[in-house]
Amino acid sequence: MSGIIGILGGTGQLGSGLALRFSQAGYKVVIGSRSKDNAAQAVEKLKSEHPELNFDISGTDNKTAAAEADIVVLTVHYEHLVDLLAQLKAETNGKIVVSTINPLTFAGGKAGLLPVAANSVAELVQEHLPEAKVTAAFHTVSAALLSNLGKPLDEDILVAGDDKAARQEVAGLANAIPGLQGVEAGPLRIAKYLEEMIVLIISLNRVHKAQTGFRVTGLHE
Ligand SMILES: NC(=O)c1ccc[n+]([C@@H]2O[C@H](COP(=O)([O-])OP(=O)(O)OC[C@H]3O[C@@H](n4cnc5c(N)ncnc54)[C@H](OP(=O)(O)O)[C@@H]3O)[C@@H](O)[C@H]2O)c1
Repeated sequence: MSGIIGILGGTGQLGSGLALRFSQAGYKVVIGSRSKDNAAQAVEKLKSEHPELNFDISGTDNKTAAAEADIVVLTVHYEHLVDLLAQLKAETNGKIVVSTINPLTFAGGKAGLLPVAANSVAELVQEHLPEAKVTAAFHTVSAALLSNLGKPLDEDILVAGDDKAARQEVAGLANAIPGLQGVEAGPLRIAKYLEEMIVLIISLNRVHKAQTGFRVTGLHE
C-alpha cells in the first residue's frame, strides 16, 4: 500500500485499533501523541502484542505525525480538537484529513451529544483547516473490535466529504481492512448524521449486549 497514514491521538483506543488494522493492511503508519514517549510506547505495545505482523509503524508528536503523513486521521475527543487543529494548518495543507470524532457525552449517565461549534465536527475541522480535504469516517466502528484481530469485522464505514476523490480514497482505506466496506455517504454536511449515529449504536449495544455496527443494503441493485 502506498501512502503514510498519520493517526493523531493514535495512542488511544480508536487510534490504536486503526493503527493496527492499517498496518496489517500494509500501510505505513505514524502514531501521533502529545508526547513522543507515549507514542513510542503505543508502537512498542502494538508490536509486542502482534509479533507475527511485519509492521511499518513509528510514533512521534502529533504535529510531526501530521507533517510526515499523506493522510491525517484525527482520533481525539471533541473537547481537545480545536487546540490540536491550531497546530496543524501548515502540516495538513492539501492533504486528506479524516475526522472520526463523535461529539459524545455521558452527562447524567446517558449517552448524548455535545453542542458543536459548527453544523458538524467535521465541518468545524474544515473551518480550521481550509486547505485540507476533510472527510468524516469510522464513527461507528468499535475500537475494541478493531483491536481484536481474532474477531472478524462485518460492517460498513460511511464516508462523507466534499472532495469526491478524497472520499473515494478514504472509502478505499476502509476497504483495505477485511470485513469493512467503505460507502460514500455524500458531502461533508452529511457528517452531522454520521456523528450522531453513535448514540444509536450505544443503545443497540446495551439492548443486545453486543458490539453492533451498520450495513447499508441495496447498494448494488
Ligand atoms: N472508542 C471507539 O470505539 C470509537 C469509535 C468511533 C469513534 N471514536 C472517536 O474517536 C475519538 C477518540 O476516542 P477513543 O475512545 O480512542 O479515546 P481515547 O482512548 O481517550 O484516546 C484519545 C487520545 O486523545 C489524546 N488526548 C487526550 N487528551 C488530549 C488533549 N488535551 N489534547 C490532545 N490530545 C489529547 C490522548 O493521546 P495522548 O495522551 O497520547 O496525547 C488519547 O490517547 C473520539 O472522538 C471518539 O468519538 C471512538
